[in-house]
Amino acid sequence: MKLDHLRAGTGVSHCRVPYLHIARNPPYSALIIIPCCCESACTPLTIQEQQSKEKKSYGCAITVVLSMAALSAIIWFAPKLYVSKTGTDAGHDHHLRDVRFEHGELSETEADEYIGDAACKPCHSEIVKRCAETRHARTMRPVTLFDDGDQYRSITKISDKDNGVDYSTSVHHGDCIQNGKVRSGESLIKAVWEIGSGKNARSYLSEQMPEGTISLRLSWYAMPKKFDFTSGQAPGHSLTTVGGAALSREDLTNCVQCHATTVRSGVSGPNLANSHISIGCERCHGPAKAHVAACSAGKPAAGQLAIELLKSASSDRVNAICMDCHTSAKTNLPGRPATERNLARFSGAALMRSECFQRTTTLSCTTCHDPHLNAEQQAQRSDAACLSCHHEGSSNKICIVNSKSACSSCHMPRQVADDMPYTLYTNHWIKVWNRE
Ligand code: HEC
Ligand code: HEC
Ligand code: HEC
Ligand code: HEC
Ligand code: HEC
Ligand code: HEC
Ligand code: HEC
Repeated sequence: MKLDHLRAGTGVSHCRVPYLHIARNPPYSALIIIPCCCESACTPLTIQEQQSKEKKSYGCAITVVLSMAALSAIIWFAPKLYVSKTGTDAGHDHHLRDVRFEHGELSETEADEYIGDAACKPCHSEIVKRCAETRHARTMRPVTLFDDGDQYRSITKISDKDNGVDYSTSVHHGDCIQNGKVRSGESLIKAVWEIGSGKNARSYLSEQMPEGTISLRLSWYAMPKKFDFTSGQAPGHSLTTVGGAALSREDLTNCVQCHATTVRSGVSGPNLANSHISIGCERCHGPAKAHVAACSAGKPAAGQLAIELLKSASSDRVNAICMDCHTSAKTNLPGRPATERNLARFSGAALMRSECFQRTTTLSCTTCHDPHLNAEQQAQRSDAACLSCHHEGSSNKICIVNSKSACSSCHMPRQVADDMPYTLYTNHWIKVWNRE
């Protein structure tokens, strides 16, 4: 049941709001979280399904109307208590866009519901400090001489015999440049944004140009410490320009939103300079301006925090939030060659294949990962997680090879993903590998 739900909802990116809708009660800065009654808006249904859904929807609609009425009544009778002191939200009754599931560029008004990590510091300083050191917080940055100069100065010459272009990198007038030499001349493109913290790799984007933003031909790889062709742009792949792959406005937004918190809309494309790039608190916790307002007014009563309580959320809910980026509906389809070749890279898709996941209801990404820390700080926590289910006296199997430690080193091996050169990933399909 659980698996079905997630499979349908690996539609995570297909159905943008798999479990909850967050709505705002118009004039006040209180959040109401109501269960999603709108699967029909997400998945095409048969007529029978439609009819049974409609009945359910009426039920839901009535519940929602009643609870809205009850809430409005409370607010009516206790106005001083509930009206936002700052009053900044009064009068806005626009839809609150939740970037966790509703993708795309945000309007100014929508983006203004996101307040940024610095605003959390006064009350959650420890977590803010920890998160700032994670790779989530460094997964997209502007290219700078300080961070990238040495790499761009390292002499690199890479030839694509298919299109006859010699590529190289350099630094000109303080800019990091990728060059493509063709017989008729040279294409020089300035790298403006980098994607990827550099643990495994960094890819580069140009500024917006008439042909769009270009995902540049060369990426930097950490393992060999050198540039090589960007994933998906090796010789033989069709390219839109000599310098790399031109991204349409939609492609660019899609690319960036797994590496950013909020993407603001601009005139001819997303306004990256004004967006919150890299992954901050609100990419997992949702818009938090109302929460900060509620807490700044004094310690709020239970139920008045105006933020989802992820600590007590279901494993499905947490998985859906993480898998919004760590897997994708397309790559998750079983049996597709690209899925099989790249399974190690998609932790969510792989984990869902494990018996451990399928036979239980509690396994989630946070069983093994603290979302506010990097992966390598978690090995012990991961062993502890395995042992919480596979221990003497439990009804689950016990390992006859090593029943105490190092579980993931054998059951979650480090592997390559075919489409990503020079990189090893932890295959999250927990099983006995190489048993034929
Ligand atoms: C003025 C103080 C204050 C500020 C600023 C603040 N919070 Fe909180 N937050 C609280 C309080 C109080 C709670 C209630 C739980 C507690 O005591 O930690 C809370 C709880 C939370 C929870 C719920 C934890 C759970 O139980 O699952 C999350 C998530 C959270 N805050 C995130 C944020 C984020 C993200 C920001 C910044 C955008 C932020 N907070 C800013 C005071 C604050
Ligand atoms: C569906 C979400 C998603 C989209 C879209 C996406 N990425 Fe990523 N990207 C990820 C995740 C998740 C990782 C981390 C993978 C891991 O370490 O397991 C990642 C990692 C990377 C890395 C570091 C190498 C690595 O695998 O650790 C680079 C470089 C990168 N992405 C570039 C891009 C570029 C360029 C685009 C757009 C053209 C893009 N990504 C689009 C989710 C996404
Ligand atoms: C990658 C997703 C992600 C990011 C980024 C993130 N969180 Fe969390 N956070 C979670 C999840 C999931 C939980 C529930 C954890 C659990 O079950 O232990 C959580 C729990 C919390 C809690 C309550 C539990 C506790 O440890 O006190 C607070 C408060 C919180 N986060 C604040 C923040 C703040 C502030 C930031 C930004 C500096 C942030 N989070 C960034 C996913 C995230
Ligand atoms: C907005 C998209 C997004 C969301 C949501 C997200 N991640 Fe990530 N995550 C990434 C990307 C991109 C990277 C690669 C960071 C880099 O560039 O090295 C990453 C890296 C990681 C890493 C590896 C960090 C390291 O040490 O290399 C872990 C572990 C991780 N994420 C766990 C989680 C968990 C758990 C959640 C849910 C609570 C989550 N992520 C939610 C995009 C996301
Ligand atoms: C939430 C509980 C839970 C957690 C956590 C868990 N497992 Fe399991 N696992 C199970 C269940 C249930 C099965 C089904 C077989 C059984 O009863 O042992 C299973 C099956 C397995 C199998 C056999 C799979 C197969 O395809 O033959 C292996 C190997 C395994 N687990 C190893 C691990 C390791 C290693 C970890 C930690 C990285 C882990 N498990 C974490 C519950 C869990
Ligand atoms: C049973 C434990 C377990 C669960 C559940 C789990 N992970 Fe992991 N994860 C690990 C271990 C162990 C590593 C390797 C840590 C290291 O680098 O030493 C890892 C590494 C990662 C990395 C770093 C890149 C890589 O492939 O090495 C990412 C990203 C990641 N996990 C994401 C996730 C996401 C997203 C989920 C939920 C869909 C998840 N993990 C669930 C144990 C787990
Ligand atoms: C040195 C590699 C290694 C380590 C470390 C290891 N295992 Fe195993 N594990 C195996 C092998 C190989 C098998 C298959 C044994 C057999 O049936 O012949 C196995 C079998 C299992 C099984 C039974 C699977 C089945 O279907 O019969 C479970 C459950 C399991 N391991 C869990 C764990 C846990 C939990 C840990 C950590 C406490 C762990 N393993 C550590 C290699 C390892």
